[in-house]
Amino acid sequence: MFDRIADRYDLLNRLISMGLDQGWRRRLVAALAPAFADRTSSKVLDLATGTADVALAVARRFAGVRVVGLDPSEAMLRVGAGKVAALAAPVSLVRGDAQRLPFPDDAFDGALISFGIRNVPDRDAALREMARVTRPGGVVAVLELGLPRKGVLAPLARLHTQHVVPRLGGWLSGEEEYRYLAASVAAFPAPEAFLERLEAAGLVDLELRRMGFDAAHLYLGRPR
Ligand SMILES: C[S@@+](CC[C@H](N)C(=O)[O-])C[C@H]1O[C@@H](n2cnc3c(N)ncnc32)[C@H](O)[C@@H]1O
Repeated sequence: MFDRIADRYDLLNRLISMGLDQGWRRRLVAALAPAFADRTSSKVLDLATGTADVALAVARRFAGVRVVGLDPSEAMLRVGAGKVAALAAPVSLVRGDAQRLPFPDDAFDGALISFGIRNVPDRDAALREMARVTRPGGVVAVLELGLPRKGVLAPLARLHTQHVVPRLGGWLSGEEEYRYLAASVAAFPAPEAFLERLEAAGLVDLELRRMGFDAAHLYLGRPR
């Protein structure tokens, strides 16, 4: 599915989220800072890296950090590789599955996944893998869309996520992905339930940051 929309993915994201997705990604990247506090060189893993926007943002924000971006979609990685080459960024891209990572234990100072965990069939396995490959004291971060449930703007935000996005996305891309997006956001666990999955994966010091009236959530934790 992502192979089919790869060439239009970045543009569609900006249009559909009205630019909000970039601000949410910036907050995700900023949340990694504690992982690098006492280090001169660090390594970060960006799972479901797609077109590598977050991987590139990490490399830009933190000097001396090398980033590995992993994704199963060849076409998404191809778009990402073009951007990495154009910027000569310290980012390497690997084809793979978040459920079975080809890295040893404690290999990274931080592991993150942005708008990707929703697509992974066995989310618990992916969270366990993130905890496994992150060193003790490092940061594990998950950014994911949510469904606004409370507040005056919640009905408007729900209308946008559930009705505007699938139609606009389908119309602009001609693909099913944006209908799937609305359905998969609705099926994703509520934040409190997802925090329990992070805990079950062996993460501690858990934190939930709500963004855009609950349209997105940033989950943070540390390996035990
Ligand atoms: C909505 S995109 C997010 C891309 C990027 N992280 C971003 O913030 O724009 C979701 C990505 O999840 C990837 N994906 C799907 N299944 C996956 C899996 N099992 N392991 C890792 N990535 C996966 C897709 O190929 C796609 O690139």
